[in-house]
Amino acid sequence: MANPLTILGIAGSLRKASYNRAALRVAQQLAPTDAKLEIFALDGIPPFNQDEDQHPPERVAQFKARIRAADAILFVTPEYNYSIPGVLKNAIDWASRPYGDSAWDGKPVAVMGASPGRLGTARAQYQLRQCFVFLNMYPLNKPEVMIGDAADRFDEKGTLTDDDTREHIEKLVEALAQWTRQLQKAKR
Ligand code: FNR
Repeated sequence: MANPLTILGIAGSLRKASYNRAALRVAQQLAPTDAKLEIFALDGIPPFNQDEDQHPPERVAQFKARIRAADAILFVTPEYNYSIPGVLKNAIDWASRPYGDSAWDGKPVAVMGASPGRLGTARAQYQLRQCFVFLNMYPLNKPEVMIGDAADRFDEKGTLTDDDTREHIEKLVEALAQWTRQLQKAKR
């Protein structure tokens, strides 16, 4: 079998009982046998300051190293005010700098998200996809995984109780692994 892929999973919430963090843990459990999904938690990433981007804080340096070591990225984003949460955008900005030293360049990427609202982070996901254009990331177009009504799909311990959602997440991680292999083959 080919070397296992490393997918780096990043959830855009710091909340202990976060639905998005919970969804990312589900993705980790469902990663295909030819891939392992590691999680990087955004706790401890300070607010971006361009004065420091040549010598970023240690936590940011660690973050960039983990991105660089990964074959692909999985973002799991909440939606705040119809957009990407500041915590996630801030982390994306740090890892994109200094100019010319972005850790995101050329990475295959997939997106999902969970919200107690109906639209399941659709608006935030499309805004996130816009960032991929400048970052030169290679987005997986489908499946789209927008987990609406999250309070009905996760129990109070953060366990996913909805089989359909589990199936969608599994298909997404499988498709991301396949997309990553396809891009790696095309580069050879
Ligand atoms: C929200 N929430 C929210 N939900 C949504 O579907 N669309 C939105 O535009 C917003 N806006 C919004 C703004 C702010 C400042 C907060 C704090 C919350 C609700 C949000 O989806 C909910 O808090 C989720 O539980 C956040 O994700 P985690 O922390 O559970 O992963």
